[in-house]
Amino acid sequence: MGAVSVFSLTRTIAGLTLGALVLAGCGSSLGESGGSQSGDPSGGDVKIGLLVPLSGVYAPLGEDMRAGFELYLDQHDGKLGGRGVDLVTADEGEGPQTGVPAAQKLVTQDQVTAVVGVVNSATALGVRDFFHESKKPLLIANAGADDITGARKSEYVWRTSFSNGDVSAALGPAVAEEAKGSVYLIAADYAAGKEMVAGFRKGFEAAGGKVAGEKFTPFGKTQDFQPYLSAIRESGADSVYAFYAGAEAVNFVKQYEQFGLADKTSLYGAGFLTEGGVLAAQGKAAVGVKTSLHYSTELDTARNKEFVAAYQKSAGKPPTVYAVQAYDAAAVLDKALSKADGDSGEDLVKALGGVGSIDSPRGPWKFDADHDAQQTYYLREVRSGAGTAVNAVVGELG
Ligand code: BEZ
Repeated sequence: MGAVSVFSLTRTIAGLTLGALVLAGCGSSLGESGGSQSGDPSGGDVKIGLLVPLSGVYAPLGEDMRAGFELYLDQHDGKLGGRGVDLVTADEGEGPQTGVPAAQKLVTQDQVTAVVGVVNSATALGVRDFFHESKKPLLIANAGADDITGARKSEYVWRTSFSNGDVSAALGPAVAEEAKGSVYLIAADYAAGKEMVAGFRKGFEAAGGKVAGEKFTPFGKTQDFQPYLSAIRESGADSVYAFYAGAEAVNFVKQYEQFGLADKTSLYGAGFLTEGGVLAAQGKAAVGVKTSLHYSTELDTARNKEFVAAYQKSAGKPPTVYAVQAYDAAAVLDKALSKADGDSGEDLVKALGGVGSIDSPRGPWKFDADHDAQQTYYLREVRSGAGTAVNAVVGELG
């Protein structure tokens, strides 16, 4: 039995996925907090909120994050900081309209000690003031909105993932060196897409690259990319840089190949373009796509191999960057809760400042002064392995 047998889970009924129903069938109760009574005598159980999409285009990312967080708990007797965990899950949905009320419910109604999760940059920007003002710690385990660890940095908001500008800027110089002509930029039309493109453009143009054109496609609504693919062809670009994740990434990469662009126009992107279940669905259409990311299942380290095997066993599929970011958020909380003087937001953020280096499957990383993850970015290329496509690690990016 997985992690559900050793700690209690609360699940929102709205947006329940098949995976959640299967887990619920394994022992957790729907719509009510189980409330494990086996807490450490020093502090009792700790209630943690998990805010991830269980519905919408990013639902698979949310499922991976939950599986990563649960794996960490499973490997640590269901405890963080030596205390039993009552994990309350809420559906972020497709953005702030659903994500903000879900975050508020976790804090005001469920009274969690800290919240982990948030996939979408727009949600992260939408909940930032709420966490700041209520002095409740938020550990963002995906959303890359630049301002969260920049202009709108908060004592109460920390990030175990990446910033949009960094992950994309890292790829710019490599593409400038490799591309023979200009590059067309295309992304989902919302905060993350805009920042990914801006970050890539900055790194790419600083290294002498030329941009052929730029287009933002309606987020969560675009299924047919043909008009955009025609515009790319007409631009005469040598290569393309794209930011899509989840279902949009599957459609974009498959249609890119079906449209006949893959052979002539090299495709680059932030690693979300070919990550996890997305890559499995793209199959051979993704072979040759090059991306930047701070994780790959193919990282050749003992720590990663051990993690990949454990995740595969518990989740029944290979891990993803989303799973790693949430797994690491659990590791961060484990350290912080064991050091904190109490459960208040002030106590916990003081302890977060002292967690030091995290021994992650992605490689060791630590928080920088702005609470962002300071880490290595890898250049990855999709290659077909034994019947499946993988993101081979072909280098490290500066
Ligand atoms: C974001 O909105 O920040 C985001 C979503 C999916 C993958 C990467 C970034």
